[in-house]
Amino acid sequence: MNRRALVTAGTGGIGLETAVGLAAAGYAVTVVGRDAGRGGSAVERINAAGTGTEARFVTADLSSLAEVRSLAERVTAGGALSVLVNNAGAMFDDRRLTPEGIEASFALNHLSPYLLTELLLPALRAGAPSRVVNVTSGSVRIPTGRIDTAERKGSYYGLHAYGRAKLANLAYTLDLARRLKGDGVSVFAADPGGAVTTMTTGTMSSSHVVAPWLRPFWPLVRTAFRRTTSGTPAQAARSSVAAATDPALAGRPGLVVGPDGLPLSPPRRATDPRLAEAVRTLSRRLAPLTGEDR
Ligand SMILES: NC(=O)c1ccc[n+]([C@@H]2O[C@H](COP(=O)([O-])OP(=O)(O)OC[C@H]3O[C@@H](n4cnc5c(N)ncnc54)[C@H](OP(=O)(O)O)[C@@H]3O)[C@@H](O)[C@H]2O)c1
Repeated sequence: MNRRALVTAGTGGIGLETAVGLAAAGYAVTVVGRDAGRGGSAVERINAAGTGTEARFVTADLSSLAEVRSLAERVTAGGALSVLVNNAGAMFDDRRLTPEGIEASFALNHLSPYLLTELLLPALRAGAPSRVVNVTSGSVRIPTGRIDTAERKGSYYGLHAYGRAKLANLAYTLDLARRLKGDGVSVFAADPGGAVTTMTTGTMSSSHVVAPWLRPFWPLVRTAFRRTTSGTPAQAARSSVAAATDPALAGRPGLVVGPDGLPLSPPRRATDPRLAEAVRTLSRRLAPLTGEDR
C-alpha cells in the first residue's frame, strides 16, 4: 500500500506542485483547500503525475481552528500518515480576524499548522518513519519585538504580520524537531524562495503590505518584490518535496531546506529557546489541545 501524504493548500501554487512531486514519488496524496472546483482540477493533475494511487481532495478553511480540528479528525480516521506538508499560508493587505476572533495572518500561518501537526501526531507516529514539513519564508527576518500575543501593538501592515507569524512557526518547527527526536517523526522547515503565485500577484501588489514609511517608494519596492518572487511554483516546491522525501535528510531533523533542496541557516532569532517557549505558551493558549490530543 502507498504511504499517505497530506498537503495543505495543495490545490494551487506551490502546494499543488508539492502534491504533484509527492505523487510522482509514490505517495497517496490528499490535498486541502477551500474551493471544490480547484480541488477537483488539482486531483486530476496529481493523478496524471502519480504512480496509480488516487489523490483525494478535502475541503477546509484553515484560517478557522474549528475547521483544522475537523480536518485532523477526518485525516486520523484514514489511518497512518507518513508525510504532512503544512503549506497553507497567506499575507493580507488589511487587518482581518478569523471566525474565532484571532488576527488572520497569525491564525493561518502559525496556529493552523501548529494545531494540525499536534492533532496528527498519533497518525504520524503510526506512519513512522514519517516527516512533517512546515513551509517558511524569507520574511522571518523582518519582524521585531516579542511574540507573546497574536498581534503586536501598533499599526498593522501585511508583511510584518506575515513575517511575525512565519517566525513563530519556524521557532515552533525547530522546537518540535528537538521534541520529537528519536520518535520516528522528523520535522523540517522548507523555504521555497520566491514564486509567481496567487499570493505574490495578489496581496503583494498592494502597498499596504509594507510599512507606511516605505509606501512613497512603492514602485521600487514592488519591482524588488517582483524580482524576488519570479520563480515558478514548481521550482519553489523543490524545497518541500526534498524535505519530505530526500533520503539524505534522514536522521537530520530540524533543518531548513532551501529551494535547491539543500539546507539553509535559519536566522538566529528562530533558534532562541526563549522565543520557542513564548510561542509554545501562546499557541497552547490560543489553540488548546484537550487531554486526549496531547
Ligand atoms: N510564493 C512565494 O513567493 C512564497 C515565498 C515564500 C513562502 N511562501 C509560502 O509558500 C506557501 C504557499 O504559498 P503560495 O505562494 O503557493 O500561495 P497561494 O498561491 O496563494 O496558495 C494557493 C493555495 O492556497 C489555498 N488556500 C488559500 N487560503 C486557504 C485557506 N484559508 N485554507 C485552505 N487553503 C487555502 C488555495 O486554495 P483555495 O483558494 O481553494 O482555498 C490554493 O490551494 C505559503 O505558506 C507561503 O507563505 C510563498
